[in-house]
Amino acid sequence: MKNFLIINGPNLNMLGKREPEVYGTESLDDIAKWTEEKVKGKATLQWFQSNIEGEIVSRIQQAHSEKYDALIINPGGFAHTSVAIHDALKILKIPVIEVHLSQVYRREEFRHTLLTAKACSAIMSGLGKQSYYVAIHSQLH
Ligand code: DQA
Repeated sequence: MKNFLIINGPNLNMLGKREPEVYGTESLDDIAKWTEEKVKGKATLQWFQSNIEGEIVSRIQQAHSEKYDALIINPGGFAHTSVAIHDALKILKIPVIEVHLSQVYRREEFRHTLLTAKACSAIMSGLGKQSYYVAIHSQLH
């Protein structure tokens, strides 16, 4: 059984209510339940969400001394701005995959800069909730 940490950044707690035409109508909890069902018996998923940059940095640091097979992170808006999250990700020795529900390269230009992705081994963007599943699935074997 593999063990994954899944970190979600700011405003992802508002999924379902937030710009449904972009992010769909499901809540983060709905997405978590759907993903857990898909990987049942193969992986355990620890979900963490915070709107606060420092809390995300601390959770990543904590993961350094815990046993995860990979980290999946949707940094939300911090993907485009956060040197601190980028630097924290660089400390980890496990694969880190950045995910986005939306296809960020089809959106506003400020979303085309992916700072945190420079510290990640892969990026999944634009598959909605499947972005999480595909990222996890890629690390199952
Ligand atoms: C997002 C894309 C970001 O640009 C945005 O700030 C988010 C959500 C996504 O999952 O598509 O909060 O990370």
